Amino acid sequence: MKKRTALITGASSGIGMEFARVLAKKGYSLILTARRKDRLEKLKNELQVPCTIIVADLSKESDCFELCQQISDKKIDIFINNAGFGTCGEFVETNLKKEIDMINVNIKAMHILLKRVLLKMEQRDRGIILNVASSAGLLPAGPYMATYYATKSYVVSLTKAISEELKENGSDVYVGALCPGPVDTEFNDMADVIFALKGISPKYCVREAIMGIKKRKTIIVPSLKMKLAVVGQKVLPENMLLKIVAKQQRKKTNR
Ligand SMILES: NC(=O)c1ccc[n+]([C@@H]2O[C@H](COP(=O)([O-])OP(=O)(O)OC[C@H]3O[C@@H](n4cnc5c(N)ncnc54)[C@H](OP(=O)(O)O)[C@@H]3O)[C@@H](O)[C@H]2O)c1
Repeated sequence: MKKRTALITGASSGIGMEFARVLAKKGYSLILTARRKDRLEKLKNELQVPCTIIVADLSKESDCFELCQQISDKKIDIFINNAGFGTCGEFVETNLKKEIDMINVNIKAMHILLKRVLLKMEQRDRGIILNVASSAGLLPAGPYMATYYATKSYVVSLTKAISEELKENGSDVYVGALCPGPVDTEFNDMADVIFALKGISPKYCVREAIMGIKKRKTIIVPSLKMKLAVVGQKVLPENMLLKIVAKQQRKKTNR
């Protein structure tokens, strides 16, 4: 069998870790990255495939380029561009340093890695890139989680544009965005919130993501409930939608 390699950012937890398990079962060699080396080592020991671990803090531009350097001689078949986190609260009260870190991870690192990996895939005219966005990125805005929603809108917009360019150029490279609603991971602890809606499991989320990739969907929304919500939000007036989102977000912070 041909050796295939997957690169996964944010592999130390949640959705990224589940992708690592699923792609290992499919026989991929893995390149796993995150900040928590102990978690990555533990995962490597659990998986029955070759794993390269690269510790990187993607809030730092230097670490992003260092990571690009370290993978420059690798042939990546699948890239799960997943690392990210959220913060919650009223914009005038939230921590600016944390928000800048979030913009750096959710937007800047996602963008740098996407570009570098895509350029190499384009040379071979094959490969799969999945940017992990969020259903938040499909909404006009997210009061009380304003910066997080804005970062995920960026991911959705960038993905749609690149996907269209690739299609128009007849490229065989696939770029899509995964847009889940709540998923039961460590995301909430990081964002210091509780879900307003019941979350799906990372297993279910990744299974749906892989089905979406197979169908070459540009936007993948796991779970029927979220798919219906996405359809519903298209018909509601924006001011009404923003009020509903604000109400849901306030529930998360228990305000
Ligand atoms: N859970 C949800 O409800 C949900 C819904 C929609 C979208 N998403 C998106 O799904 C993606 C994965 O999140 P998750 O739910 O799996 O949350 P999670 O369990 O908290 O995992 C987040 C991952 O991102 C990594 N990460 C965070 N900051 C990083 C940094 N500065 N440098 C490098 N890696 C960093 C973490 O690794 P280290 O801490 O070890 O660095 C961890 O592996 C995120 O992009 C998130 O926005 C989540």
